[in-house]
Amino acid sequence: MIYLDNAATTFPKPRKVVAEMTDCLTHYCANPGRSGHDMASKMASRIYETRETIADFFNMTDPLRIVFTANATESLNLAIKGLLKPGDHVVTTAMEHNSVLRPLKEMKGIRVTVVPADKNGCVFVRDIELAISPSTKLVVCTHSSNVTGSILPIKEIGSLCRKKRILFMADASQSAGAIPIDIQAQNIDILACPGHKSLFGPPGTGFLYLRPGIDVVPLKEGGTGTDSANLYQPRYFPEGYEAGTLNGPGIIGLREGIRFIEELGLKTIQQWEQHIIEMLTDGIGNLPNIQIYGPDQPSKKTAIIAFNIKGMDCETAAYELNKRFGIAVRAGYHCAPLAHKAIGTYGTGAVRMSPGIFTTEEDIHKTLTALQKLSG
Ligand code: ALA
Repeated sequence: MIYLDNAATTFPKPRKVVAEMTDCLTHYCANPGRSGHDMASKMASRIYETRETIADFFNMTDPLRIVFTANATESLNLAIKGLLKPGDHVVTTAMEHNSVLRPLKEMKGIRVTVVPADKNGCVFVRDIELAISPSTKLVVCTHSSNVTGSILPIKEIGSLCRKKRILFMADASQSAGAIPIDIQAQNIDILACPGHKSLFGPPGTGFLYLRPGIDVVPLKEGGTGTDSANLYQPRYFPEGYEAGTLNGPGIIGLREGIRFIEELGLKTIQQWEQHIIEMLTDGIGNLPNIQIYGPDQPSKKTAIIAFNIKGMDCETAAYELNKRFGIAVRAGYHCAPLAHKAIGTYGTGAVRMSPGIFTTEEDIHKTLTALQKLSG
């Protein structure tokens, strides 16, 4: 199989991720933060080490302000539902995933402004500035679109929010581990991340970082292993926000995923993915019956190409790529309907290819041959 669905989850996971998870599950997978025995203590230490690894990787000041979640969706729900109150105004963008749009839609008594994107999926800071009003509490936007790969100017958006004293949350679902993120330099107050995409952790991992000074209401109540005589949910970071047994082996896998990036170098990963995307873009550019969506220049996006084949619906194209050529892609609306409206594919959806660090040049040659046959 040629796996071009890394935007959904990266595959394969690095060998060290699998090895460390197996070691944990085999030798010390006890419940962290509950009992005091050696196995539970080892598990708790490993989990704390993961917080430190994440904090270093993104230049966060306090590892204890990292809340582990099951995925970016849970992180975004925690921040949106925990922060906003009736009367608040939120600014977001047309390039968001439903994990931002749907929680905002469900919130009672808040006002939401969705800033448009152009036909290439690009969002402009001046439009965000125009949308801000005196009641704006939060700007939330994706760092990179899961439909077109377009990279949003989050540093400038963060700087605007600082100037206006508004909180800024970045959804790094497609960018964390793929392009650099420094939350201090990029003026990010809140960062929502999956662990299982470009950070190479397993599915079932993710986290939310809230900079010191930002308090939210927990999304769930339950056991924290602390203050257990108290019937009310404690608000201490991080355990007050992590009720229930943590996904310990997954979190250990996430730490190894980030170490894999550090060992290889984020720059190396970024350069390889750019190279692969350029090969795909140039090759598809020679196929007259295929239309590509998104920014023209590969440097303006993460490793995603969205396209349609003339006369073939996107689901059929994805089915054929899978069945006839062994190529894994994702077709449809990618849980981001407004992004498809922006690029003009709301009625049709599109095929999305998302290569990764393990994609080879040979994979791309085979993919281009398959596309030529399908579209010819
Ligand atoms: N949000 C993921 C995607 O874009 C699952 O495919």
